[in-house]
Amino acid sequence: MEKKYHIITLGCQKNEYDSQLIAALLKSMGYESTGKIEECDILVINTCCIRNKADVKVYGRLGQYRELKSANPDLITIVSGCLAEKDGKSLLSRFSNVSLVVGPRNISRIPELVEYVRRTGKRRCAIGLGNMNFEIMPVLRDRAYAAWIPVTEGCDCRCTYCIVPYVRGAMTSRPSEHIVHEAEEFAASGGVEITLLGQNVNAYGTDIPEYGDFGSILEKINAIDGIKRIRFMSPHPRNFSDAFIEKMASLEKVCPHVHLPLQSGDDTILRRMNRRYGTDEYAHIVDKLRSSINDIAITTDIIAGFPGETEEQFSNTMEFVKRMEFDGAFMFAYSEREGTPAVKINPPVPPQERLDRLNRLIALQNDITFAKHRLYEGREAEVLVETVSKKDSEFLTGKTLRKEVVNFTGPENLVGKLVRVRLAKAYTWGFMGEMV
Ligand code: SAH
Ligand code: SF4
Ligand code: F3S
Repeated sequence: MEKKYHIITLGCQKNEYDSQLIAALLKSMGYESTGKIEECDILVINTCCIRNKADVKVYGRLGQYRELKSANPDLITIVSGCLAEKDGKSLLSRFSNVSLVVGPRNISRIPELVEYVRRTGKRRCAIGLGNMNFEIMPVLRDRAYAAWIPVTEGCDCRCTYCIVPYVRGAMTSRPSEHIVHEAEEFAASGGVEITLLGQNVNAYGTDIPEYGDFGSILEKINAIDGIKRIRFMSPHPRNFSDAFIEKMASLEKVCPHVHLPLQSGDDTILRRMNRRYGTDEYAHIVDKLRSSINDIAITTDIIAGFPGETEEQFSNTMEFVKRMEFDGAFMFAYSEREGTPAVKINPPVPPQERLDRLNRLIALQNDITFAKHRLYEGREAEVLVETVSKKDSEFLTGKTLRKEVVNFTGPENLVGKLVRVRLAKAYTWGFMGEMV
């Protein structure tokens, strides 16, 4: 009988990509994908640990999956990803149903590790942040039209609140020819949208200058036939130069959208976060982007309740958010990550106060997002159709160049296609559209 795997992906796009690597490795071992978790022989949970909530989610799931192991004693459960790197062996002692713990830099060892478990019945933990071995590894994409392509692994920024440098290691750039090769192969197979990934994409090549800079990568991808849309996530304001904005503006396939994490609108807090820019520099980037690229959408990430944040400093963030008029934002309550410098900053903001600030911020930004969407109501836009809507199977859902969500009625065979849609009605979440 055919052996099957099931992969659950939590966390960011980098994890989505890593899951595609894991899928390709398992397939090369003769395993087939199944959507039914209860019939799999290998269960992979590719985890995140960016905030405490992410940890809790994984632990909850692992508890739930004990039953699967009782029903099928041969089941091999693999915990991969960032929480695997953070919590390591303790996952094995806490969950007898887990066979393998595999950190982000040990993914390529999965075939060997699975063989080991099958042969010996023993359990293993493979973590560690040694140098990344960047061979070209095949990926198995679940969507034929869109690809994630990492340009770097790890992060050197060491924002004081953030766990990523500890679980993904120092920044290592991928050889540019690997990135371009992956993009060309994807285009040859009919793909249209590429999202270049990294924790700080603009720092690409600063470790290995021969690879060129991030602008040169954009240029090379822009030249590939068949590719229609290029996105990237995330740039860091500290490396976002005017020259880069000009390069972006000159490349026609690069989408008019930048996700530029702000984190705080207060200069003292930004300093304590080790972000290495101030609100003036941030505002300069936003002005320059808006004056150089027509209709550009700018979205951001913000943390409420960073240690030591006073009510006044928080209101500076509120004021700055009003001034920047972001097209959208992901907003979070600060979460302590053990081992990061921020946990030692005093006094911590009480958890209830963090949530209260977060809610005020969300309410403010929602009004701004809605007002922004209203400006585009009635216009026509090019939409890349992604899926049949999760909420209501009657609708297709896709994204505009500015990365706004659009739902509209249409045939399922449009998935993966670019269509013209009228943005008939604006909402905070996006638009209801009509095909034209
Ligand atoms: N490398 C990306 C961010 C990856 S994490 C970047 O810097 O752009 C995504 C977001 O999670 C961050 O931008 C930040 O807003 C949030 N975040 C990270 N650590 C956090 C923490 N300890 N508590 C709350 N939010 C956090
Ligand atoms: Fe974390 Fe900062 Fe690196 Fe982003 S840039 S991953 S927030 S350390
Ligand atoms: Fe989470 Fe790791 Fe991404 S901590 S946000 S999955 S880099």
